[in-house]
Amino acid sequence: MTRILRGPVLRFRADPFAEGAEAALGWLDDGAVAIEGGRIAAVGEATEVIATHPGAEVTTSGGHVIAPGFVDCHLHYPQTGIIASWGAQLLDWLNTYTFPEEARFSDPAHAATVARAFFDLTLAHGITTTASYCTIHPASVDAYFSEAQARGLRVVGGRTMMDRNAPDALRDTAQAAYEESRALIALWHGQGRATYAITPRFAPTSTPAQLEAAGALWAEHPDCLMQTHLSENHAEIDWVARLFPEAADYLGVYQRFGLAGPGAVFGHAIHLTARERAALAGTGAGVAHCPTSNHFLGSGECDVAGLKELGIPVGLATDVGGGSSFSMFDTMKAAYEIGQRRGVALSPVHLWWLATEGAARTLRLGAHVGNLEAGREADLILIDPASTPILAARTARATTPSELMFALIVLADDRAVGQVWSAGRPVNPRAPVR
Ligand code: GUN
Ligand code: ZN
Repeated sequence: MTRILRGPVLRFRADPFAEGAEAALGWLDDGAVAIEGGRIAAVGEATEVIATHPGAEVTTSGGHVIAPGFVDCHLHYPQTGIIASWGAQLLDWLNTYTFPEEARFSDPAHAATVARAFFDLTLAHGITTTASYCTIHPASVDAYFSEAQARGLRVVGGRTMMDRNAPDALRDTAQAAYEESRALIALWHGQGRATYAITPRFAPTSTPAQLEAAGALWAEHPDCLMQTHLSENHAEIDWVARLFPEAADYLGVYQRFGLAGPGAVFGHAIHLTARERAALAGTGAGVAHCPTSNHFLGSGECDVAGLKELGIPVGLATDVGGGSSFSMFDTMKAAYEIGQRRGVALSPVHLWWLATEGAARTLRLGAHVGNLEAGREADLILIDPASTPILAARTARATTPSELMFALIVLADDRAVGQVWSAGRPVNPRAPVR
């Protein structure tokens, strides 16, 4: 059966960083998305889509904007419970809140409970794809992928590797990290809509032997992603220089172990040297920009436009629990504010592209999700531009799609997220389709 959603459609025709905002936005005032067998069969003017799909069941969106589901290309599901924890900068925050919480994931029942709560939250915020770090415990990975699979979601995840500079309960070995990750790849990678990401947490918590093992594992499974953190915080960068004195710089550590290449996703990448920027551009690796986290932990301001100019894939990410919100509206707003502080006013089209298509491409999932386009999986959300009085008042005055999008970025929250569809099925626990 074909199902058609009719209403204003937000979609992209191109990368706005390459083609400009106007050419990139393929907005339709009275558009339609036809869905068949979990995929998008057609997107276009409503009259045309309806005429070419006779017999389809047509539902109007009631003024809600039909948009691609958000893609969050870097976050930590085990940190759901410690979001909004006060305190200092990255390294103190990790030791005080993050590591004790992650140690609790040795209990599979705890992991399952948090995974359930996590996907309730991400879906309620319209995030249909997440790329999450798990913990060192294989059960934390099983809980994540099982819960995603039960809901039919396209997700990325991996077992975090850390064999030094962490509490006893959270330390593995190079060998265990390699073997357990390999077993999890066999179990989950490519199962349904799951992608496995080999996940050395960051250089300071891995010995050279463990990074070497991670590189070997990736070489054996090049269609997996590789995710880690890079140049987030000055104290972290100084620490890496002390731990790896022979490396040219932070990125150089990952390069040495075969951990920089197409399919690598580096979280943050804020304080890059000229050499690192040039080297990163040549690797094919992407960057997850985590603006609410960078504000919250006082980490710094990523040069998104500069990275994009170098041809580096960039996507937006919440980085929960270092990030302070599950909302991609908040995340786009924070990216805008960081741009402003750097003297670059990113347009609403640029911001929204980073939160959908840009993040999907960074995860090498651009063929599947991130945009409303025939052939992609039907992961989409309906957004109510009048969900609160102030949002209703401001969007009513919008004279262009861009203006409407910017009002949503600044003023909307999860109350604006209505139906959420994943592979053509409704999945928002708060707004089921009747
Ligand atoms: N660097 C290493 N681990 C983490 C983490 O969990 N969150 C953030 N923001 N940075 C990290
Ligand atoms: Zn992170």
